Amino acid sequence: MSKSSKVSKFHQKTMQERLDWISKFSDLNHEDRELYLQSGTDNNNLADQLIENSIGVMEVPLGVAVNFIVNGKDCIVPMAVEETSVIAAASNGAKLARPLGGFHMHFTGSYMIGQVQITNLKSPESAKIKILQNKDDILDIANSQDPTLVELGGGAYDLEVRIVGDKSEEMLIVHLLVDTLDAMGANATNTMAEKIAPTLEQISEGNAYLRIISNLADHRLIQGYCEIKKEDLGGEEVVDNIVEACRFANLDPYRAATNNKGIMNGISSVVLATGNDTRAIEAGAHAYAVRNGQYRSLTQWEKNEKGNLVGSIDMPLAIGVIGGATSLNPKAKANLKIMGVKTSQELSEIIGSVGLAQNLTALKALATEGVQKGHMRLHAKNVALMADATGDEIDYVSKELVKKDIIRVDEAKKIIRTLRNEEI
Ligand code: MEV
Repeated sequence: MSKSSKVSKFHQKTMQERLDWISKFSDLNHEDRELYLQSGTDNNNLADQLIENSIGVMEVPLGVAVNFIVNGKDCIVPMAVEETSVIAAASNGAKLARPLGGFHMHFTGSYMIGQVQITNLKSPESAKIKILQNKDDILDIANSQDPTLVELGGGAYDLEVRIVGDKSEEMLIVHLLVDTLDAMGANATNTMAEKIAPTLEQISEGNAYLRIISNLADHRLIQGYCEIKKEDLGGEEVVDNIVEACRFANLDPYRAATNNKGIMNGISSVVLATGNDTRAIEAGAHAYAVRNGQYRSLTQWEKNEKGNLVGSIDMPLAIGVIGGATSLNPKAKANLKIMGVKTSQELSEIIGSVGLAQNLTALKALATEGVQKGHMRLHAKNVALMADATGDEIDYVSKELVKKDIIRVDEAKKIIRTLRNEEI
């Protein structure tokens, strides 16, 4: 008989019961099953609290990038990431930026957009005007949903109305702008968007459908720059090569995707380490990168009059330091402490700096020796592990691989067999 994945009340089962069921469904043996429980009761309880049908946690390495100066203040940055060389690259980029003051960052404010889609309109243009004429009442309705946010100085503060679609089926898109202060603010914004929808229907004589936050948070931007001495990069030729690499990303989306992936290596790692929503940040970043019709780099690199390299970053960053997983996960809270940040602004300034540092190191490597040499050197330990090296062997094998400049599993296996005096 074929197996059925339909289970009733799976979410009401305990983690143990879920694992019993899964073990039968997927033929897990005792060792497999134990892997899920090994993360410990605290972690598993937290997972159970945060998501549905949880069976444990998926571990991601956590490290700290060093050397950062952000707006004149030294800081170290926790990063959760599985990829070798990301943290080393961020630290190297930060080191290169130090001599000329590090990263100078500006945050535009925690302004989120709640969208309401209104369709079936008889006269979209006049509906738009009527909505704007009733702005104050609409903002009051929105703000009545979150008196605490308003008391703290945040809340809904403006409306924007756009008409989109073909003449035959135009729709109104109302943007409710909400200052969410130190929270990412998805819940506050969504609640407000839902609450104003009936009034928008009445005023516009249309039908409100979707009422949801936009992850293209283009009122909540992190913008900043750093300057690197040409001597620290290996001369003006390297500066020129990095500027050309940036031009490549601005001209060609195939390169821009990889360039921005590198930037997001840094950004998403800090976002994850602080319990924030990596998907929201990724979606916003990529949508922003294509805002002018062509997908481009989120950073820009130029040469200044001294021949030095100047890099800048400009992208949406909807992250919070309160609410959601950030408040519930003790390690996320401790990670904020490591950085010494208390506000969404301070965290955004650090995250933007990490993105810029990450891109700097990648472009420097690409413009000179390429990324593989450094990456494979750091990756050698993983290769030793993949070849089943254990204990002291791991260090020895990885060093041998680097020495031979052959960072491959078959080579690692050969070294291990020699080390263990086994037949080759
Ligand atoms: C690898 O994870 C990231 C890079 O490919 C970024 C880049 O090419 O700019 C090295």
